Amino acid sequence: MNKLFVILFCFVFTCVNAQQLQSPSKDIVVDFSLDDQGEPTYQIMYKGKEVLKPSKMGVLLKDGNTLNKNFRILDVETSTFDENWTPVLGEEAVIRNHYNQMTVHLEQKESDQKMDIVFKVYDEGVAFRYEFPFENKAHYFIISDETTEFNLTGNHKTFWLPGDYDSQEYNYNETKFSDIDISKIDRNNGIALQSVESNYRVQTPLMLKSDDNLYLNIFEAAVNNYPVMHLDVDTENYTLTSNLVPNAIGDKAYLRTPSTTPWRTFMVSDDARDIVGSKMILNLNEPNKIEDTSWIKPMKYIGIWWEMHVGIATWDYAGSQNAQNSLTKELLPSGKHGATTENTKRYIDFAAKHGFDGVLVEGWNVGWEDWFGNWKEDVFDFLTPYPDFDIEEVHRYAKSKGVKMIMHHETSGSVGNYERHLDRAMDLMKKYDYPAVKTGYVGRIIPRGEYHDGQAMVNHFNFVAERMADNQLMVNSHESTRPTGYHRTYPNYIAAEAARGNEFNAWSNGNLPSHETVLPFTRLLGGPMDYTPGIFEIKMSAYDPTKTEQVHTTLAKQLALYVTLYSPLQMAADLPENYEKHLDAFQFIKDVPLDWKTSKYLEAEPGDYLTVVRKDKNSENWFLGAITDEYPRKTEIPLDFLSPNQTYKATIYQDGKDAHWEKNPKSYTIKTETVTNKSKLKLTLAAGGGTAISFMAIN
Ligand code: NOJ
Ligand code: CA
Repeated sequence: MNKLFVILFCFVFTCVNAQQLQSPSKDIVVDFSLDDQGEPTYQIMYKGKEVLKPSKMGVLLKDGNTLNKNFRILDVETSTFDENWTPVLGEEAVIRNHYNQMTVHLEQKESDQKMDIVFKVYDEGVAFRYEFPFENKAHYFIISDETTEFNLTGNHKTFWLPGDYDSQEYNYNETKFSDIDISKIDRNNGIALQSVESNYRVQTPLMLKSDDNLYLNIFEAAVNNYPVMHLDVDTENYTLTSNLVPNAIGDKAYLRTPSTTPWRTFMVSDDARDIVGSKMILNLNEPNKIEDTSWIKPMKYIGIWWEMHVGIATWDYAGSQNAQNSLTKELLPSGKHGATTENTKRYIDFAAKHGFDGVLVEGWNVGWEDWFGNWKEDVFDFLTPYPDFDIEEVHRYAKSKGVKMIMHHETSGSVGNYERHLDRAMDLMKKYDYPAVKTGYVGRIIPRGEYHDGQAMVNHFNFVAERMADNQLMVNSHESTRPTGYHRTYPNYIAAEAARGNEFNAWSNGNLPSHETVLPFTRLLGGPMDYTPGIFEIKMSAYDPTKTEQVHTTLAKQLALYVTLYSPLQMAADLPENYEKHLDAFQFIKDVPLDWKTSKYLEAEPGDYLTVVRKDKNSENWFLGAITDEYPRKTEIPLDFLSPNQTYKATIYQDGKDAHWEKNPKSYTIKTETVTNKSKLKLTLAAGGGTAISFMAIN
């Protein structure tokens, strides 16, 4: 659509108050209009059918200005964009960014206040954001609320997380929209800090499915200098309204002109694969700002980590987790401290033997005695190792074995303290050649009163990525806000947790068998996840017979997760001794690449199943991951994605005939077949199971 069309459109309909924009495919249409009160409203159609009812837009300012009514349209501009770009690391070597754009310039009659609403319509959905031009009289302003609505057309099936300002580490609830009610769910789920202020609030990405089988997704992109958007739900009228996470005094965002909000996104398709494979969120972010990216590399790692989660080692030196002891008497080693020089060498040896890039060591530094729960400010200095961790010797040994160490900065949410130490902490990383850091934010945020999802913390997470980039260091954040594509702009922000990870299976009621079939439709749309897959010793009773906790998948599904949960940073999370017992299955973790030429989602249904194949960026090899929820599944996969005239050796890692995530999770079989792109493979997945396949090109 061009300008002439807009003018004609307005002429024919004798108004300037209604505008329309289509997707490149023409399947999606967004209508924008001002009603007789001058209130901005949008509505979305898909293949001629209404998928979002007329929904209001706008923001409110603390000074009393209401930027959601009394507007008139000054001007409308439209354009088309179509460009390919190359991510440093990714699911695709080349990404197409193709959309139609419309900017509606608005002015408020009385106050002279200006605001633009910019729409981009992609083939997978609609994005819009508010922009505050420099011309406004007030250059500095405070957002007190956003009044963006998403008015659904029916009582859709909804995959929702409670609208918690401090945590996304929940299982997904799968209910009708009308049944969203946080008071009805079990919140004894292992999440240490929960900040839920309304029973009728959910997080995004919010995945929905209508009765007529349309897949819908509400999310946001490029969240920077703005709080995270949660959504208030009206379960009777099927509407959602933006709820911005407040700061300590209840304000939402401090902005100055010129500035913008993040993009609000609404995806729609009759094929779930279009949503799960979409690059729209990434495309809505600014291009890469790092000139030399040669140091940004995928990392497969192991670590001194799971042994603490299963309870056979401790993070703290004295093993007491008791700060009072450390105040009154000298700390004595308990013999259970995980991060010793000797143990680290054992992991380095294992990493070197099996070709891993890195070793993470948690609990290496002083402070773990009272690391969270006391709202204490100066917990860690990120510089001082425990007496039994010789950082110099670890560095020497790792270097001699060709293995990189991964730094760990647990902040306990004490962010001011972390920022004060950041430069020195990065100097230490450079000195000892750590290329990457895992950060952590367990516990209540300091400055006190801030939430993990507020504007200040969003800025902190982005700031850390930017400062690390200055030092050519990569970041993997845990307990951060969920990513919204910022890794396009700062590709050293290589991964984040920001969802319920595998760790919850070690010490809580765990993750539902359907959990990993929802994540790709929600959390992963914003960026790679450090889920920490690869647990082979499924039941925690192996460590302590009184324990009933377990991983809620089969062993084969743990392998498939390396393909279904995309990330350029992947941990083999289990203990070396557990891998030694299953070296045949471990081979898949060794073989699977972390950076891809292309990816194809073959089968997808949120909450039920997912099958994806990916081609290695640096070879002709392909890899398949197929997973199911708590139900077994049979399927047949034509291998027509493979290159023609090429033969492959397929190694198939699958559930044993008697496998079941609860009753018999460790039953698996491995077989090999010679295949071509004419072959088909029958897959049989156990309840809570999966299949992983490597297709190695042979001549
Ligand atoms: C929570 C993180 O998700 C986990 O990976 C880490 O081991 C602990 N915090 C301690 O930092
Ligand atoms: Ca966590």
